[in-house]
Amino acid sequence: MIVKPKIRGFICTTAHPTGCEKNVQNQINYVKKNSKIEGPKKVLVIGSSQGFGLSSRIVSTFGAGADTIGVYFEKPATETKTGSAGWYNNIAFENEAKQAGYYAKSFNGDAFSDEIKNETIDLIKKDFGKIDLVVYSLAAPKRVDPKTGEVYSSVIKPTTDAYTNKTVNTQKGIVSEITVDPAIEEEVEQTIKVMGGEDWKLWIDALENAGVLAEGFTTVAYNYIGPEVTHAIYKNGTIGRAKEHLDQTAYQLSEQLKKIDGRAIVSVNKALVTQSSSAIPVVPLYISILYKVMKEKGLHEGCIEQMYRLYDEHLYTSSPKPLDENGRIRIDDWEMKKEVQDAVASLWKDINTENLEQLTDIEGYRKEFLQIFGFEFDGVDYEADVDPILPEK
Ligand code: NAD
Ligand code: NA
Repeated sequence: MIVKPKIRGFICTTAHPTGCEKNVQNQINYVKKNSKIEGPKKVLVIGSSQGFGLSSRIVSTFGAGADTIGVYFEKPATETKTGSAGWYNNIAFENEAKQAGYYAKSFNGDAFSDEIKNETIDLIKKDFGKIDLVVYSLAAPKRVDPKTGEVYSSVIKPTTDAYTNKTVNTQKGIVSEITVDPAIEEEVEQTIKVMGGEDWKLWIDALENAGVLAEGFTTVAYNYIGPEVTHAIYKNGTIGRAKEHLDQTAYQLSEQLKKIDGRAIVSVNKALVTQSSSAIPVVPLYISILYKVMKEKGLHEGCIEQMYRLYDEHLYTSSPKPLDENGRIRIDDWEMKKEVQDAVASLWKDINTENLEQLTDIEGYRKEFLQIFGFEFDGVDYEADVDPILPEK
């Protein structure tokens, strides 16, 4: 079939098999061009098919030479329908890793469930013995509690007052004002259940109880903070409350891991176009302006550049960059530079539908959004007939 993007609201319902493969290969090539990392050798990545998790897995394998197990939740392709992008990314990654002589196996299922945790632990016992890194990179709209069966949903809302700001319809290029009403306490609690640290701790507890954590073990999870303009909807909103819980979980886990000389750490990453961030009001407009400014200053990074820097300059170096006052890694440092944020704030005031194309990198935003689904890559023939089933090699 000939695969074209079909955009519905915040998502694209098709994905291009060859384009997703290209995305993975480009990321691998980026890592191979950089110097080797003296890093982890047996790695579990939870949320391994997209975004920061996929890039963490690529850096683990092609930067540090690690064998990996991945856990992700994606829709397989059929003879007549394309699978989700992460489905193709996973196959492409496994193909490349195996070809290069590395172990790579994955589970497609619900990471929040006991079942997937148990299956993963069985595989670790059988094939790895012990692991030295767990990357926790889930972004999910809901979570089924493994003990009670209760379903929690995450929402993206402010927590105190209604929040009004500019937002953009990225497809139509229309800038408008949006007002988001504050969450009720129940919504805050549910968002914490989904995006906070509870499941992260359940994973680490289960792995610890199974005796598969190596001496000097590390686990990392990802946070976002961002600038003043997005604080009401992000940092001080429902998702920010969940991320506070994630930070607290890191302290708790670090205490718990002391006996194996281990650590649990949160890395604050930069704002990037991913399936998760595109659904947050205001944030896509902020990202379009941020990209414009960071590209002009030569500071732009994608997931793979961020993850390489995380391993190379923070997690696996004898001279790590300093942590922030809350004990977190800050690879959002370039985004949060004063010169960058001053430029963003000054543009923010002036943006409207008429000057959007000129003053922001909305074009770059749209391109990166489509690239998540395997479109818009150089060197891919998008007119070619492709099999929706990407072969495993
Ligand atoms: P993403 O949407 O690109 O990837 C999410 C991953 O989670 C996918 O691999 C998906 O398959 C997996 N997943 C979702 N639900 C699952 C489930 N129930 N079981 C198993 N796997 C499941 O997300 P992302 O943007 O890379 O976000 C990852 C983390 O990074 C999140 O904690 C997010 O808050 C954080 N973060 C994101 C940004 C950003 O701008 N995108 C910035 C800083 C931090
Ligand atoms: Na991820």
